[in-house]
Amino acid sequence: MAAERHPLFDDLDVRALSRRPGAKWSRVEPDVLPAWIAEMDFPPAPAVRAALARCVDDDLGYPSWDGRSVQNPLREAFAERMRERHGWVLDAAHVREFTDINQGLQAVLHVATRPGDGVVVHTPAYPPFLETIASMGRRPHPVPYTPDGDTWTFDADRLDRELRERPARVLLLVNPHNPTGRALRREELQALAGLALRHGLLVVADEIHSDLVHAPHRHLPFASLSAEVAARTVTLTSATKAFNVPGLRCAVAHVGAAGVREALAHPTHLYGEPNTFGVAATLAAWRDGDAWLAELRTVLARNAALVGEELPPGVRHRMPQATFLAWLDCRELDLDTDPQTFFLKKARVLLNDGRTFGVEGEGFVRLNFGTSEGILRDILHRIRNALT
Ligand SMILES: Cc1ncc(COP(=O)(O)O)c(C=O)c1O
Repeated sequence: MAAERHPLFDDLDVRALSRRPGAKWSRVEPDVLPAWIAEMDFPPAPAVRAALARCVDDDLGYPSWDGRSVQNPLREAFAERMRERHGWVLDAAHVREFTDINQGLQAVLHVATRPGDGVVVHTPAYPPFLETIASMGRRPHPVPYTPDGDTWTFDADRLDRELRERPARVLLLVNPHNPTGRALRREELQALAGLALRHGLLVVADEIHSDLVHAPHRHLPFASLSAEVAARTVTLTSATKAFNVPGLRCAVAHVGAAGVREALAHPTHLYGEPNTFGVAATLAAWRDGDAWLAELRTVLARNAALVGEELPPGVRHRMPQATFLAWLDCRELDLDTDPQTFFLKKARVLLNDGRTFGVEGEGFVRLNFGTSEGILRDILHRIRNALT
């Protein structure tokens, strides 16, 4: 039987992509296929494109919201989406906007911690988070993800013991996780919630990849575990990953922790306001983009399977439970250089260097499979050929 065609996702033209001015395609030489930075090659959902066009046609004046006397419509839209998709009922008045997730994280660390305070974080970790912890002088407390058959796991009991000896202030929880693609189960989240309550941790839950969890896995918002957990959690998210609009720089935070909420409210204009395009695109994505998202997820599940089938022996891969990212263990290849340099030189494919995700990333690369079937087959073919 012929495979189902997905024209919105599979009709990509490499020549057109390589003329794009954004980071992913403009930073590589013409014969290199980029599979690095975490954005997909697909055009955004039709509803998102239409909303952006309407902004241009209608009004680029000051928006009607000011984030204070008139609420940003993203707040209610986020509350509505969480209620509908996850049964999490939250107060829209506790939602606020940021330019991006990193800004939200730094603002929260700024008001809730001091230099030297410990920040618990799963490793390998999204590189800007490691940079944030270091540049703000906070102390990283790594919790390694270790192989567990076909997936990854971490040792919650060990973390408990460590926190008794070396207390921390914050748990920075990235779920679903970049780069391993883990989507944590309820019991795992409950174990972390127990630790947060026992050790008085503020939890910053980055759930930016939550719309990209592959069946049969499911996303569970951390703050939805209980009112007590919500009251010590800041949830950060945006439409930028799942709806592929990272250039629009727009994110939201549900600030369940009352003290943090109050601290973030002053001074009133420090963080600025999100722009009209980011808000319009996010609203359209969340309210009218779910049919597109469902098809995207079918395409990503197909691509994830293709990565598993077409990788050469010696490159170990555990099927991601979420995201469009594959975390590839190349340690058995016994290369004479790091795998990113090797594949760039020999395969003309740009991957992310695992070492930027922390020490556990030595010998790993991250492959982005958010592209058409044709381009992905080409990437995987190049990787295989480089090793023969
Ligand atoms: C886990 C995680 N958090 C945050 C971000 C940053 O997203 P943005 O810059 O769109 O806010 C990324 C981007 O790759 C990510 O993977």
